[in-house]
Amino acid sequence: QELQLNLEQIEKGGYDHFMLKEIYEQPSAILDTFRGRLLSNEAIIKMAGVEDNMKKFLAADRIIIVACGTSWHAGLVAEYIFEDLARIPVEVEYASEFRYRNPVITEKDIVIAISQSGETADTLAAIKLAKSKGAFVFGVCNVVGSTIARETDAGAYTHAGPEIGVASTKAFTTQITVLTLIALRLARAKGTMSSSEFRQHLIELETIPSKVEEALKSDAYVQTVAEIYKDSKNCLYLGRGYNFPVALEGALKLKEISYIHAEGYPAAEMKHGPIALIDEQMPVFVIATKMGHYEKVVSNIQEIKSRKGKIIGIVTKGDKSVKELADHVIEVPETLECLTPLLTTIPLQLLSYHIAVMLDKNVDQPRNLAKSVTVE
Ligand code: AGP
Repeated sequence: QELQLNLEQIEKGGYDHFMLKEIYEQPSAILDTFRGRLLSNEAIIKMAGVEDNMKKFLAADRIIIVACGTSWHAGLVAEYIFEDLARIPVEVEYASEFRYRNPVITEKDIVIAISQSGETADTLAAIKLAKSKGAFVFGVCNVVGSTIARETDAGAYTHAGPEIGVASTKAFTTQITVLTLIALRLARAKGTMSSSEFRQHLIELETIPSKVEEALKSDAYVQTVAEIYKDSKNCLYLGRGYNFPVALEGALKLKEISYIHAEGYPAAEMKHGPIALIDEQMPVFVIATKMGHYEKVVSNIQEIKSRKGKIIGIVTKGDKSVKELADHVIEVPETLECLTPLLTTIPLQLLSYHIAVMLDKNVDQPRNLAKSVTVE
C-alpha cells in the first residue's frame, strides 16, 4: 500500500493531482508541440501532414471541424483563427450531431478531427462518414497510434504527453497550438498574411510557453478567489471573439470536476435573456483582455455590475478599467489577439481545480466521467 502510494506520488511529480501536474506542464507541452515545426529564424512552419496535402488544403471550399467536449472548444478557437488569418470558411460541428444529421459533404471539403484520446466513438464515426463521402480527413490527436490517428488520411500530433486527469487541460492548449500552426502555414501559402505579419506571429508564439509560466503565477491569488466562490450553485462565464470558446471551456472545467452548474456565453448575448439570471448569488467570470472588443466587454461588465452581479475579470496585465468595476481581476500577460486563448484558459483551469479540491471532489476521476468516451 505504502509503495503504491509512493509510486502514485512519483507519477504525479509531487503534485496532489494529475490535473494540477498537467496544468503546470503546459509551458513544456506547448513548447514540445511547436518544437521542430516552428522555425522563426527561417520564418517557416514545417508540418509534413500539411505540406504533403497542401494542394488539397488550398483548394478546399471549407474546413469542417468535428470533435467533442474540450476538443470541440479547441475547434471553435480554430474557427476564429482559420477564418481571421487564412480566410478559409470553417464550420465546427459536435461530432455526435454531425454523424446523424445527414450533412452535406463533398470531396472539396477538408474535415479536421480533434481528439486527445483518439478513441472517441462519435468523432470516429464522424470521420468514417466524411470519408465515405469523399472528404479528406486530417486528425489532431495526442495519443500516438490511436484509432482516430490511424483512421484519418493525414494528421499532426499534439506532443502534450499522457493526459491522465479526466478534465482536459494541456491537451486543449496543445490542440490550439497545432491548429494555430496549421492556420499560419495556410495563411502564408495563400498569401493572406504578409511575411512580416507571419514572422511576428511566429516570434510571439515562441514566447507563449514563458507567458503561460507567468499566467501560472496567479495560482495563489486564484485560490483566494476559489475560496470565495466555491459554494456558488451557478456560475456564468463570458467572453467575446477568440475568448468566447474559452468561456465555454472554463464553464465545462468547473462543471465536470466540481459539479457546480456553469454556462459559457458570448458576452453580448447577456441582454438576450441570461442577464435575467444576474444577482448577488451568481458569480460572472468575464474574459476581458485588451485585444478584441475590450470596450464592449467593459460595457457588458457595467451592465452586470448595475444588477449587483459579482464579477471576476480575466484581464491583460496592467488593466485599469475592469479593475475599477470588478470584484476581482486575474491578470494574464499581453499577447496577440489570436493567441490569447492559450493564456486566458490558465486561470480558469486553476479556478476549477481549486474549487473542486476545496469541495473535496475526486479531481482526477470525477463521478460519471471517463477519460475517453469510446461508447456512444
Ligand atoms: C474535457 O475535459 C472532457 N474530458 C471531455 O469533454 C473530452 O474533451 C471529450 O470527451 C473529448 O475527448 P477526446 O478529445 O479524447 O476526443
